[in-house]
Formats: sequence, structure tokens, C-alpha cells
Amino acid sequence: MPDRSKVTLATLIAKMESGTPITMITCYDYPMAYLVDQAGVDMVLVGDSLGMTVLGYDSTLPVTQDVMIPHVQAVRRGSPNSWLIGDMPYMTYQPSVETAIRCAGRYLAETGCDAVKLEGGAEMADRIDALVKCGIPTMGHLGLTPQSAGALGGFKLQGKSAAQAKKILDDAKALEDAGCFSILLELVPDRVCELITDRASIPIISLGSGPRAHGQLLIFHDMFALYPKFKPRMAKVFADAGQVIADGLKRYVEEVATQQFPEREHWFGMKDEEFGELQKLLAE
Ligand code: KIV
Repeated sequence: MPDRSKVTLATLIAKMESGTPITMITCYDYPMAYLVDQAGVDMVLVGDSLGMTVLGYDSTLPVTQDVMIPHVQAVRRGSPNSWLIGDMPYMTYQPSVETAIRCAGRYLAETGCDAVKLEGGAEMADRIDALVKCGIPTMGHLGLTPQSAGALGGFKLQGKSAAQAKKILDDAKALEDAGCFSILLELVPDRVCELITDRASIPIISLGSGPRAHGQLLIFHDMFALYPKFKPRMAKVFADAGQVIADGLKRYVEEVATQQFPEREHWFGMKDEEFGELQKLLAE
């Protein structure tokens, strides 16, 4: 593994201040986390999007913290150097400040992650304030917030009208004032993202919200064509791993059927004298 020092909050702030774009990606398991760490990605989110990308649900709502914890632990083992964020699942922070503290505290204590993320605007300011007072770095998430996709009219662009955009700007200010170390803006118009970035003194990360942010986030399975149900427009496919795996599986099925696999190097033999001995034992 190349030499890399651990990404800290200071690293992220330094990047923001020097105008160096911050990289962020979602990740859900050990082998991919290992590759993400080697590639030098700054921030890694174990998102509750795993409900869709890994578990095949149609939304993130069925995901519980018990489901999330082993994934966050695995990603921590694979990516010791990134700034690792555990996503707070549906109904772990909405009910009260106390449920939020319990969920976030459990993440830090049981997984070794560095921070948590929760969705929502000014109405979540008391949760964020409480978490930050407990010493838990917290990322906000505005725009398309998948846990409320139903109420928002689906997985769609948010903040298209001036009034909606103003609400997102006000929410961003409320989240920053409440103590968020960073805010993710998902699927808002580029100009709204730019206005928020210009006004913020914390890193603003864009997911499908254009280039004028301090950093970019992509969902791992979208980047590598590993999600069969749909391909969001905001996602660039950086490598078609889905096709590579599909081709490999087709070859495997063919080679087993035609007895080309396994080849001699894929199995282990037994010494003649031991095999002779075995035959004698069986004949007794
Ligand atoms: O769960 C997740 O991966 C997320 C992203 C959509 C940002 O929250």
C-alpha cells in the first residue's frame, strides 16, 4: 500500500482553503475499501444506499444500524486512512436528540469511523448541535435526501424554483451554524450549489450538483456500472466493472460446461505411496 497519512478534519479544511478539490466516494465492503484507500480518496461514506446497491431494496428505508455496522467495520479495516463517515439510517435520528446521540455514539464506538452523516435541514439543527457537543463530527445532507424521497416527489432535482432554492440556502446556513463539519448537496442546480459554496466556511460536497463545490461524491456502484436497476445521469461510469464481471461469469459457465476448467494448476494431487496406502486401508 502506498504511503498515505490519515485524513483528518484539518486535511479537509486545508484542501478547502487551498482550493484543492476533495474526493469522496461511497463504499460498503473490505476489498473495495482497500482499493479506495490505495487510490487516495479523502472521504469515504458507508451510505445507507447499501440498502439499494448491495441488498437490492428499492429504497434506503429498510436499512437498520445493525445492518450498517458490519459494513462500516469492514470499510474501516480496508481503508484505515480515509475520513470515514457512517450514514445514520432512517429513524435513528428523526425521533429525538437522544436517539441521534445513541446511534452516532454507537457508530464511533463500534466501528472506529471518524464521523456521521444525517439528512435534513434546519429541523435537524438540534440533533447536530447535540452530536457536535458530544464530540461527534457530523456531516449534513441537503437537496435530494433519499430517506424522504417519497415526500420530495422521487429521486429528482431539488431547488429548481427560487423559493425552494432559498430554503436550501437557509438550511445550509442552519446546518453550518449548528456545527456540521461539511455539507453534502445532492442533486441541486449548479448555481444553487455555487451560492452555498461561496457563502460557506466548511467544505461543501457535490453529488450531481455541479463543479462549483469544494469536492465531489459519487456512489461506488454507479461509478463502476454495478447497479442494474438504473443509471443516474449525475453518475459517470469510470470503468465498466459490471461488464467485466458479466463476461467473466459467462466464460466460467462455458468453461465448466466444456470441461476447460479446472486446468492442472487449479487442483492438488496426492503422492503415489499415500494413495496406495489409502487404497489398502479401503480394501481392509
Ligand atoms: O446513502 C448514501 O450513499 C447517501 C448518498 C446518496 C449521499 O446518502
